Amino acid sequence: MTESDSRSSSRAMDRRRKKVVGAVIAGVAALLAVIVGVVTFVALQPAPPTPVATARPTASATPTPTPTPTPTPTPTPTPTPTPTFDSTAQSIDDPNSYWVVADKLRPLNPVDWEPPDLVEVPVAYANQPFMRQVASDAVVAMFAAFTAESGGLQMQSQSAYRSYYSQQRVYAGWVSSLGQAGADLTSARPGHSEHQTGLSIDVSARPAYCTLEQCLGDTPQGQWLASEAWRFGFVVRYPNTKTDVTGYEYEPWHMRYVGVELATELRNTGVQTLEEFFGLPPAPDYAG
Ligand code: DAL
Ligand code: ZN
Repeated sequence: MTESDSRSSSRAMDRRRKKVVGAVIAGVAALLAVIVGVVTFVALQPAPPTPVATARPTASATPTPTPTPTPTPTPTPTPTPTPTFDSTAQSIDDPNSYWVVADKLRPLNPVDWEPPDLVEVPVAYANQPFMRQVASDAVVAMFAAFTAESGGLQMQSQSAYRSYYSQQRVYAGWVSSLGQAGADLTSARPGHSEHQTGLSIDVSARPAYCTLEQCLGDTPQGQWLASEAWRFGFVVRYPNTKTDVTGYEYEPWHMRYVGVELATELRNTGVQTLEEFFGLPPAPDYAG
C-alpha cells in the first residue's frame, strides 16, 4: 500500500468513527428525551383519589367488643317509714292487753281478773295507788312533766287500781247515795270497771280542788291532762258529750293508759272514745 493509500484509508476510518460517535450521541440524546418525557408525563398525572374510609366494617373484620361497664351499685335509699297503725298489735278482749276495752257491754273476762304486775305508784296521793308497771311508769313521767311545764303545779292520785271486790264496795256506796240509775252514770259495776285493769287512775289537783268533779276540767291540771296526757299514753276515757257512747258522764279526772301509740293515733284522728275507734257498739246501758 502506498502512503497515499494509507492516508486515504485512515481518513475513511475517521469518518466512520465520527459517524458511529455521532450516532451514539444521537441515541443517548433520544433516550434522555424519552426519559425526560416519561418523567414529565408521570409527574403531571393527577393524584389518584384517596380512598374514603367507611365506618362499615368488612365482613371479615372482627368487631371489637364494647366493654360492658361494671354497674355501680346504686345505694338503696332507706325508706322513711310511713307511720302505720297496727290495730291487731294488742287485743281489746284480753285483760292482759293495755288496749282492753271494758264498758257496760264488755265485762272483763274473767270477771274477777287481777293484773299480774301491780306495783305501787311512787307519786303523791290521797289513797295509796297501785297500777300495772307500764302504767305506773307513765304516771310518774306524766306528773313530773306537768309540774315542770306548769311552773311547779302538782297533781296527785285520787284512786288507781281497784279489785273486783273493791269495786263492789265503791259501786254500792254510789247506789246508796245516788240510787242505781245515778250510780250507773258515774260508777261501773264490778267486773266492768277499768280500775280493775290496773291501767286507770283518777287524778286530782294538789292541793285538792274540784276532786272528782267536772270542774277539774277547767283547772290547769284538767286542761293539761286533756291536751298533753297522750304524750304519756293516756286518754281521757269519758269525754264530755260522749255519755251515749261510754255510758258515763264527763270524767276529766279518769285517765286510761292505752300506750303512746294508740293515744297518739286517737289524738291524730280526733276519735274520742275507744268504742268509736275500734268500731264497737255504743254502751250507754248494761245488757239485760
Ligand atoms: N268511774 C268509772 C266509770 C269506774 O267506776 O270505773
Ligand atoms: Zn276512774
